[in-house]
Amino acid sequence: MVAKLRVLVLLPVAALLAGCDKKQNALAPASHQSKDIASLFWWMMGGAWIGLGLIVAALLYAWGRRGTAGPGNRKPGEKTGWYVVIVLGIVTPIVVIAALFVIGDLFVIKTTEAPAASSTRLTVRVIGHMWWWEVRYPGTSAVTANELHIPVNTPVRLEVQTKDVIHSFWVPRLNRTIDTIPGRTNQIELYADTVGRYRGQCDEFCGLQHAHMAFYVYVDTPAAFHRWLAHESKPVASPPPKVFETAGCATCHSLRGTSDDSDVGPDLTHVGSRTTLAALAIPNGKAHLEDWILHNQSIKPGNQMPDIPLGGAQASALAAYLEGLK
Ligand code: CUA
Repeated sequence: MVAKLRVLVLLPVAALLAGCDKKQNALAPASHQSKDIASLFWWMMGGAWIGLGLIVAALLYAWGRRGTAGPGNRKPGEKTGWYVVIVLGIVTPIVVIAALFVIGDLFVIKTTEAPAASSTRLTVRVIGHMWWWEVRYPGTSAVTANELHIPVNTPVRLEVQTKDVIHSFWVPRLNRTIDTIPGRTNQIELYADTVGRYRGQCDEFCGLQHAHMAFYVYVDTPAAFHRWLAHESKPVASPPPKVFETAGCATCHSLRGTSDDSDVGPDLTHVGSRTTLAALAIPNGKAHLEDWILHNQSIKPGNQMPDIPLGGAQASALAAYLEGLK
């Protein structure tokens, strides 16, 4: 019994503490948009606690006075009752909700909207796929997947699109969530005031591997960002081994600078320079690449890539080649 109770108490505590991890915490803001969202949350939270406090106080007061009404005791008049219902039950909620609407609509939504065209010099286009993120930098030939880079203290225009269903791009520490709608381009500002790595997650249920549709935003110093972008724009360092075509990789993946050009799967031109594979499902590295080629349907069931039945030596050579694509 005691053990069961302990589990009952500890489980929610563990869940709460897991939320304290800062890597994807909307209450650990790293941009002015995210700060506005977090402070709106704290004001609403404070208001809700005050409201709950008032209701509990009224309940306790009524409970304390139970049975006191009757002949000889002073009864509250019907008028007072109506006054309480109108003020606390109707006027107060309307005023509070209207105030929140005005603050949310006029201030917080404004700051989290897409930036004016004149105020940004960098556009990043993110395209949702089931279940990964294609990332493009218009004006350059850079294409990457699931790990995007932006410069620090720089308003970036983020354009989101989708190849299939509705996804939602969300980096809790940087801004609100923005949906990718078929046939539409939605926009938001992406901004970070501190260099670092920020985790993001698809925020709209989009099928079997929705939970494995995560990504990283790397916020670099401007110099490091421009070095990264220049490198990412370069074509592939060396031509692929024959198995890349015979095993069917080229049907879905592109290697810029070769004839392999498809956007069904992630661009592999610099796949070796990324830290993770399959939208953060597994770390990157030769062993993981080999595992992914051979057994990806066990790692991420339902993804569009079939397990590729290669011999050990071929799989190893292919993984070594991909790992070398820094
Ligand atoms: Cu994409 Cu959920």
